Amino acid sequence: MNILVTGGIGYIGSHTVVELMNRGYNPIIIDNLVNSDIEVVDRIEKITGKRPVFEKVEMCNMDELRNFFTKYLQIDAVIHFAALLAVNESVEKPLLYYHNNLVSTLNLLQCMQDFNIKDIVFSSSCTVYGEPDILPVDEFAPIKPAMSPYGNTKKICEDILTDTTKVTEIRSILLRYFNPIGAHETALIGEFQDGVPHHLIPYITETASGKREKLRIFGNDYNTPDGTCLRDYIHVVDIAIAHIAAIERLKISNENKIEVFNLGTGIGYSVLDMVNAFENATGIKINYEIVARRPGDVEAVYADTRLANKELNWKAERTLEEMMRSAWEWEKMLGKGK
Ligand code: UD1
Repeated sequence: MNILVTGGIGYIGSHTVVELMNRGYNPIIIDNLVNSDIEVVDRIEKITGKRPVFEKVEMCNMDELRNFFTKYLQIDAVIHFAALLAVNESVEKPLLYYHNNLVSTLNLLQCMQDFNIKDIVFSSSCTVYGEPDILPVDEFAPIKPAMSPYGNTKKICEDILTDTTKVTEIRSILLRYFNPIGAHETALIGEFQDGVPHHLIPYITETASGKREKLRIFGNDYNTPDGTCLRDYIHVVDIAIAHIAAIERLKISNENKIEVFNLGTGIGYSVLDMVNAFENATGIKINYEIVARRPGDVEAVYADTRLANKELNWKAERTLEEMMRSAWEWEKMLGKGK
């Protein structure tokens, strides 16, 4: 099967391409190279022993996208990762975020309709739940107003897909990721950092490597067991494998037009739990201080994973220790400049 993977050399995209290739699928990657490195194609080849097809395409440019689909007529399904994803930047540059994330999705769906491609898996986020009223949060929980333009683009894309599936032959699965962390076991692919990391785990690994002086923990006065926020951290390879389960489900089911699944482990860990887990997994002490809360952070969010476990026949399997070890191996690889 030929699977178009948009944003396929990004963090989650590249891990998904590897898992697709390991299972005999034929991924076709498009990426505009704005937040990604073309060298990832070589690294995927090193891991899998086979070079994936790659085309540089700006999805916001309809002519470019149409040319791509005209060249590759045999696409069986689409996994759509391509998006800008820095929460802070989205607050500063809302037009950039709305334009990029929405126009690319609209163009993609239009091409899917025109070229008769029916199945799409969309990369969404637990950010759509905001601060959930009930934990663990399930897929039927109310969608809350977005805390950032980035979060809003995920919500709007979910709406666009929902409305489109109602009146076209397109069928979709929306995967709501919780907090993906870690890297491939080879340390050849992982999350590239551009400047100061915003996310917790890269900040921890950069503190461990001496790149940062200390980790700042944003608030310890939340209503949680140790006062720091709770999140559902999940290994990026487990997330990647769920996409294959989603593709397989789309190919066998002919009833459901749109389905939504949470991708998490179901466990909420605090920021301090994560610092301890890193220290235990690597033997390296993390220098940290508690600072004020970060505006926009939710107190606690972790997934009810039962629907994904049952319907996708998928379960996150990798441990917190594996997440931490792989994140650290990746950081060391980045430090060597490889
Ligand atoms: C959020 C979104 C996620 C989205 C991501 C995109 C929610 C619940 N999650 O992740 O869906 O994909 O943004 O960027 O909306 N922390 C520190 N110090 C640091 C960095 C983080 O204490 O230097 C804490 C944060 O306060 C938070 C936890 O670590 O409690 C995780 O933060 P982070 O890794 O940034 O992820 P989210 O904000 O949960």
